[in-house]
Amino acid sequence: MVPGGHARTGEQPGIRPEVRADEPGVPGQPGIRPEPRTRAQPRAAEHEDVSAARLRRVFGAFPTGVTVIAALVDGTPVGLTANSFTAVSLDPPLLSVCVAHTSTTWPLLADRARLGVTVLGAEQESAGSQLASRRDDRFAGLDWYETAGGAVLLDGAGAWFETSIEQQIRAGDHDIVLLRIRALDADHAVPPLVFHGSRFRRLEPPAADNGHRPAPRPTPTQEPS
Ligand SMILES: Cc1cc2nc3c(=O)[nH]c(=O)nc-3n(C[C@H](O)[C@H](O)[C@H](O)COP(=O)(O)O)c2cc1C
Repeated sequence: MVPGGHARTGEQPGIRPEVRADEPGVPGQPGIRPEPRTRAQPRAAEHEDVSAARLRRVFGAFPTGVTVIAALVDGTPVGLTANSFTAVSLDPPLLSVCVAHTSTTWPLLADRARLGVTVLGAEQESAGSQLASRRDDRFAGLDWYETAGGAVLLDGAGAWFETSIEQQIRAGDHDIVLLRIRALDADHAVPPLVFHGSRFRRLEPPAADNGHRPAPRPTPTQEPS
């Protein structure tokens, strides 16, 4: 089924049925039918622009958290920002990130016994940009610590995982990296950093903390006895 579409016999949503020249169509223009879809409907894939630029823009409509994958390499912290984090499995405990084949940092991390995955908090936007930059000392000015296994984690985060590489799967121009979770914790008092539309953002407080309270439930009226 077309993602987001409805299964219907005979006609797929968003795919314009072929029109024969002898079919009745728009008055005065035999064979031409009015456009049956609205702009919001998906269109046939073969006519679509699926260029990298468009994919980036459309993938960017999916809001994500922001993580930092990092470890000590020759005594120096090495890491990169990644928003491709996905929770994968509870048993065994697995998460995944996708890493671009063009990454120059990933090859340095790929043979480490332990990798830290820090889920950045709303106040850590500068860490998110710094760890995605080309600068030499990406960790300058950041508060980080190492675990006994050599994973690197950032202080003040919303959550953290200490992981080891379980499997690396080639997927187009990225690798899906499955990471086995060895230790973890979260601080739910830390609001998350969000990435959406190519920008770092913050969540608004939930409606309950925002003065918008749900309407009180009507009190049941008493039945006359
Ligand atoms: C918000 C954000 C999310 C990113 N997510 C990923 C990701 O999931 N996978 C990835 O390979 N690169 C991701 N990047 C790019 C890397 O952080 C980094 O810029 C890239 O790996 C180039 O640096 P490198 O050559 O040192 O690896 C992201 C960048 C930003 C700003």
